This record gives sequence, C-alpha cells and structure tokens, in this order.
Amino acid sequence: MPDPHAHAHLSKTELLARKNEEALLGGGQARIDAQHKKGKLTARERIDLLLDEGSFEEIGKFVMHRSKDFGLDKEHYLGDGVVTGYGTVNGRLVYVFSQDFTVFGGSLSETHAEKIVKIMDLAMKNGAPVIGLNDSGGARIQEGVVSLGGYADIFYKNTLASGVVPQLSAIMGPCAGGAVYSPAITDFILMVENTSYMFVTGPNVVKTVTHENVTSEELGGASTHSAKSGVTHFSCANEVVCINHIKQLLSYMPQNCEETAPNQPYEASGDESRAVLDGIVPENANQPYDIREVIEGIIDEGSFLEVHQNFAENIVVGFARLAGRSIGIVGNQPAVLAGVLDINASTKAARFVRFCDSFNIPLLVLEDVPGFLPGTDQEWRGIITNGAKLLYAFCEATVPRITVITRKAYGGAYDVMNSKHIGADMNYAWPTAEIAVMGAKGAAEIIFKREIAQAENPEAKLQEKVDEYQEKFATPYRAAHRGFVDEVILPSQTRQKLIRAFKMLENKVDTMPRKKHGNIPL
Ligand code: HXC
Repeated sequence: MPDPHAHAHLSKTELLARKNEEALLGGGQARIDAQHKKGKLTARERIDLLLDEGSFEEIGKFVMHRSKDFGLDKEHYLGDGVVTGYGTVNGRLVYVFSQDFTVFGGSLSETHAEKIVKIMDLAMKNGAPVIGLNDSGGARIQEGVVSLGGYADIFYKNTLASGVVPQLSAIMGPCAGGAVYSPAITDFILMVENTSYMFVTGPNVVKTVTHENVTSEELGGASTHSAKSGVTHFSCANEVVCINHIKQLLSYMPQNCEETAPNQPYEASGDESRAVLDGIVPENANQPYDIREVIEGIIDEGSFLEVHQNFAENIVVGFARLAGRSIGIVGNQPAVLAGVLDINASTKAARFVRFCDSFNIPLLVLEDVPGFLPGTDQEWRGIITNGAKLLYAFCEATVPRITVITRKAYGGAYDVMNSKHIGADMNYAWPTAEIAVMGAKGAAEIIFKREIAQAENPEAKLQEKVDEYQEKFATPYRAAHRGFVDEVILPSQTRQKLIRAFKMLENKVDTMPRKKHGNIPL
C-alpha cells in the first residue's frame, strides 16, 4: 500500500523503481500466495503466459482509485486491481486486461473500469483484438453506483467494438452479477474448470428465491456453461490450457473487420484427393456417422478447433484451415439426434456464422439434416424464432460460402443450411445426397395415403411408393438439373474442389442493402 511519506528519502529514479516494484506486487505477497494456493495464477503470470516473451507494454500501472468511503482513502494499490496494456501473440498485436484478484478481490472500481475502457478504445482505433482475463468479485462494493457506471461503460464499449475487433473473454475466477454481461457480449468465452464460475445471482440468492440447493460449480461452473447453457464456448482443464486456446483461436482470426485472417504456409502436395472420404457415409441412410471424420478428411491435417464442443452436439462448428486458409465450418452431426436442427443447434450455429461473417472468415457447410426437431417442447420454446436466427445469419453472410451435401437435405432445413437460394456461392453434393421435402417414407405415406389404404397389401404398396419416391427425389440429381447443386462430386474429390472454389472466391465482394441495421429474430 503506497505511503506518500515513506518514499521521501528516495532519489527520483529510486522512487520510480520502488513504485514499479510495488505495482508488481498487487495486493501483496500474502494474497499472491493465497491466489496460488487456490490453484490460480496471478494477473501478471497470466499475461506472461499469453503474450510473446518480453512483448508486454503496460498502460496505467500507477493508477489508483479515488474513493474515500469505508476507509478506502487509507487503502490504495498501484494499478487498482487490473493490469492493462498491449503486446503480441505470435507476433500479432493484441490488447489485454487482466484482473488482479489480490487487489480488493479484483473488484471493479471507477478507475479500474477506466483502464479497461482505455485499452478498448485503443484496440478499436488501431484495429486489434481485446483479450479480457476475468477474475473479479464484481462491483467494488465500497464505491456503489460509481462502480456500476464503470461496468456500464465497459458494456457499451464491448457493444461498439463488437464486429470491429475480435473480443475474447477468459473467466479465471468469480464472475457474478451484472459483470457476466461484458463477457456475454464478447465473441468467445473460455472458462477454467473448477476455479471459475459465472452467474447472475449466486447460490445464496437462488436458495432464497427458488429454494434450490445448488453449488457455485453446478450453478455456473465451466461444465454447466459448456454443456447445459452454452454460455461458454470452451471449458478448459486449467489456466494454461485456457491461455493456449486463446492463442490458437486468435490464429484463425484477422486483427479486425477490415482484414482477412493470416494464411499459414501451405505446400500443395499435387494430389489433394482423399480416399478416406469415400468410405464414411453408410449405405443405409438411417445409420449414423461422425461428421468430424468428414471434417478431418477435408481439412489440413490437425487444423480443426472445435467451438462449443459440448453444447448442442447435433451440430458441429469450428475453425480449420484449408490449404493454409482459415475457414469456419458448420456441420450437421448425424451421430447425435440424427443431426436434426433444434433450438440450441440453431442458435449455436447462427452465432458462429455471424462471427465468421463479421471477420471475413469463409464458411464451409457440411449438410446432413433430416429437418427441424418436432414436438411441443421445441415449438413452445420457439423453434420458429430460433431456427430463423440461423436462416437469417446465413442469408446475411457475405463471406465466401460453400455447402457440401453429404446425405440428407430435407425440408426447410435444406433451405436454411446455406442453400444456393439464400446466397451460397457454391453447392456440391455427394452421390449419397438426398435432397427432398422429407424422407421417402413420410412423403409416400402422405401423398399416396388413399392408394396405400385401398391396396390389397398396404405394406407392399407403401414400400413400392417409398421406392418410387426414393428413386425420384432421394438423389442429388433433381437439384443438380435445376442448378441448385453446382456439381455432384465424389467424396474423395471434396478437398480439391473446395481448395479451388475458395481460391476462386477469395476476392468476393458482396454487400447487403443499405440500412441502419437488420432486425435478426432475437
Ligand atoms: C470490494 C471485495 C469484493 C467486492 C471481494 N472483495 N469482493 N472488495 N468489492 N465486490 C475483497 C474481500 O474483501 C477480500 O479483501 C478480497 O477481496 C478477497 O475476498 P475473499 O472473500 O477473501 O475471497 P474468496 O473467499 O475467494 O471469495 C471471493 C468472492 C467473495 C466469492 C468473490 O469475495 C464475494 O462473494 N465477494 C462479493 C461478491 C459480490 O457480491 N460482489 C458484488 C456483486 S454485484 P481482503 O482485504 O480480505 O483481501 C455486482 C454487480 C455488477 O457485481 C453489476 C454490473 C452491472
């Protein structure tokens, strides 16, 4: 705690050195030890892990709070509970703030908020990502509404920065109350298992209001938010894994909305055919397979970074590289719920599509979808509005967009999953594709209902009609005759076709009609 009189005997350079030392200690060694004992790193250790060695330049190291109430006039720490500045990750500029739990529990004061806002302003003006390492007891209770104002200033900046520069939030400790809304506005949330939580109201309030007994971990830990609510995109085993994920995520992104993501060096092998892809889709259309095998078969080896891995597993989204280029992939997952689109799958994919479109990352859609999930649960919770989010997100996306239909493309889901009609640039289908209003059995039962009922052997008649429908529509050729499918290709050719097509589309220019902003069905 700085004492203005304690430094009276020091020379000017000694004073500076002393202040620098003090700032590095945050809330003091005892609190640093306590932080370590909880299995947590300090704010500065986290920054060291994140940034290229020696690249960190701190801003606002000597900032102190201005509060006088509740004895705070006697308690000051240089930096006021947040370390802010800039540096590089793999040579690329980023801005970072890292909350220091050793100073008033990392709680957010007016000055703490000002420091965060300052680097966000710089990030927006200079076009580089903002990374927030969150570890905070929330609003600085002694400051009251001034602290709430500070939060609101951050939320406002988060919103203005949305779509301008990528914003990533790591949750590495408590994050409660309204404080959760800053991360929620940012593009990606990463949580550390067992040491972090996010909730609007904690277990005590929950118990009072709803009489539920729930632990912090159950209510808002990483596993809850990665699997149940989808609030977090990544659940990380520890802080090191979390920070490595941040670095990896950044590698797929451009610095800002005016740029494209950096290409990785890629040496063409000359033969881009991938025989393994020919054996993935089973003969029987009702048999599942893992769309990740298709993804791995197409992309550059080991380049897939799955987002939201444990949430709405019936759709798979993530970043990958194709011949060194960054792409976003959205794939229906036949291995889970037959790849059906439900509310969670739709919102998960919609948000991912919008991120990619915001930051000029081309989209690849792998389609095998039997339709939207029927039932009262889905209807009453608004599958219409939520499914429309995905439709809207694709319609609005102006990045290069390519679809590969591996098997089923049924009903409204055919339209929604990046069809040519809603602006996809290229649409390929494998010979196993079935592009129809619905599955053959359902279709035959409806359109030949009377004929089947009147037949001597209704079952045989049904089968006959199913076969007829199957032959006519459960193929890619009707769509290809219309040009809705640009080419029917062998699975093994897919990688080659996509590399060429994305290259062909690399200078694509497309715009939306002039408007203030659209009205996505939220
Ligand atoms: C000021 C705080 C603080 C806060 C913690 N501290 N939270 N100081 N304002 N919000 C201080 C403690 O006094 C303590 O100081 C140090 O930080 C560490 O706290 P501990 O309680 O010892 O740590 P731990 O046991 O790990 O518990 C952490 C905690 C708990 C779960 C975060 O401190 C807690 O519940 N804090 C209050 C949380 C809260 O109600 N915040 C306001 C929520 S409302 P010393 O000096 O002992 O080291 C809110 C609204 C935001 O945030 C709205 C935005 C719109």
